[in-house]
Order: sequence, then C-alpha cells, then structure tokens
Amino acid sequence: MAWARKHLLDIQSLSAEEILTVLDTARAFKAVGERAIKKVPALRGKTVVNLFVEPSTRTRISFELAAQRLTADVINFSAEASSLKKGETLKDTARNLEALNADIIVMRHSASGAPHFLARFLDASMINAGDGAHEHPTQALLDAFTIREKKGKIEGLNVTILGDILYSRVARSNIWAMTKLGARVTLCGPSTLLPRMFEQMGCRVTYNVDEAIADADIINLLRIQHERQRKTMFPSIGEYTGLFGLTQARLARTKPEALIMHPGPINRGVEIDSDIADSKRSLIIDQVTNGLAVRMAVLFLVTGGQGPQGVAA
Ligand code: CP
Repeated sequence: MAWARKHLLDIQSLSAEEILTVLDTARAFKAVGERAIKKVPALRGKTVVNLFVEPSTRTRISFELAAQRLTADVINFSAEASSLKKGETLKDTARNLEALNADIIVMRHSASGAPHFLARFLDASMINAGDGAHEHPTQALLDAFTIREKKGKIEGLNVTILGDILYSRVARSNIWAMTKLGARVTLCGPSTLLPRMFEQMGCRVTYNVDEAIADADIINLLRIQHERQRKTMFPSIGEYTGLFGLTQARLARTKPEALIMHPGPINRGVEIDSDIADSKRSLIIDQVTNGLAVRMAVLFLVTGGQGPQGVAA
C-alpha cells in the first residue's frame, strides 16, 4: 500500500503508485456505494470541516456526502456567514476550527498555495479542494478513476485537454496525473490562454483544435475561467465557440470511441454543444458519481486508512 501522507495538497508531489492507491481504494468504496447499506464506520468519531471560501457545487457536496458515508461528523463552513467577513484571518479561522477538534479540513480558496500554507502549522489533515489556478487534486483523481473505469487503462491513451488552460487548476492537476500514469497529453486553446511553457510539463501544445482531437481517446473540455481572468483574453464568446468549441461537426472528425469529459460547471453552447454534453459519449455525470468514491478514499487514506484492503468487505 503506497500511502503515508497526512495531507492531500496537490498531484505534483504524488508518485504514480500513490495515485493508483487512491484509485484502487476508491474502487472499493464505489462497491460499498452499491450496497443496500452505503455507510461504513471508517471515520466514526472524526470531524471533517468543509472550509469553502470560493463557490462550489460538485466538490463541496460530494465531500460532505463522502464524510457522512464514512460516519464522520461534518461541519459545513460558510465563508459568507463567517467572521472572515469581519477581518479574521484564514489562519485564525483554521486555528479556531482546530480548537473544536477538526480532524480534517477540506479547503477551497481563491489563493494558490492557501492549503499548503495552513498545512504547515495545523495538526489536522488538510485536503486541497481547489486553490486558485494552481491545483484541484481530487478532480484529477476522479478524472483518472473515470478514464480507467471506462477505458480499462490510462497508460498509452491520448488525452486532450481543450479550453482555458492558463487559469485552470483542473488542467494542471490533470497534466500531472495523466503524465505520471503514462498518458500522452495534448493541450489546445487560444494562444492567450495556453503559453508554450506548458510543454515543459511534458505535453504537446497545439492551437489547432482539429489536430488536437483527431487522435484523442479522451477529450477533456474546460470552461473559460472568467473569475480568474483580469483582462479580456479573446475577442468574444462567439469567436471562442467558433474556434475552440466542441461542436457536432468537430466531434464527427474524432475517433468514434473518443469519450468526452468536463469537470463542470459546463457552459452549454460555449465550450460544448448541449447535445454532446448529454450524449452517450459524455462522461460528465459519471465523473460526478465517481467523485464521491474518490473523496471517500482520500478522507480514508489521510486519516491512516490502509488502502483498498482496509475497506470493510
Ligand atoms: N469541478 C468542480 O470543481 O466543480 P465545483 O466548482 O462545482 O465544485
């Protein structure tokens, strides 16, 4: 079993073996979720705090349900209704949560590195649920889980990530995860949102969408991260869709077995044609379902859980 970490802060620092341990553990938890009684006592007596200082639907709700399925006590911290609004620092807020015996803090924050900063002085386990444009490790893990489930492997696959790469924490975490697991990664998007420096992460970079998707086994679409862009990065949404959106005409030029992914939230008619999002080739809803099992696995492992063999049979 290759996991001895107290925190999950990023994918960059994980080994392929550690990633595979999370995926194997998640597979065991997915099987638990298919039983009549979906709860296990793995985190009984532990307290999980969801500290989301940025909006979220999928990540926040699936961490909450994951903690409940593991029989933990769960506190959902609302930044808007908290003393952060009165000038309390993030560090003081986290210390107060720890004073209430939080064992795990799951944090989303707009500042890159915020969870790494808190992990330096907290006794609680810290799980990064997305930090600025830096990383979103559980998204990459659930994406890897979904690809392995649908394709039977990751090694040797062609994975294309298409969209706003520059501002995407999902892109960075996916690049690390996919390359560590042996996939060939192609990145595509407007040149203003895809600097050549991404080649240094072991990816092919192209600005030609047809070239990017022609040999892809997986096409992972990203939305435009307007909330992180400080200036206009392309002339209009219409032009973006025309040049980079996944339309039916473009999909027809891909391999028939190529599957479509998106971390959500999707912007229908912008980066993805609405019918493609709802089609049989779309894994978007499977990704959300698998997020629950992956987050159960992460909560379990950071508190000393013993990999897939430690999940109650
Ligand atoms: N994919 C993802 O992180 O979605 P949320 O922002 O809704 O959590």
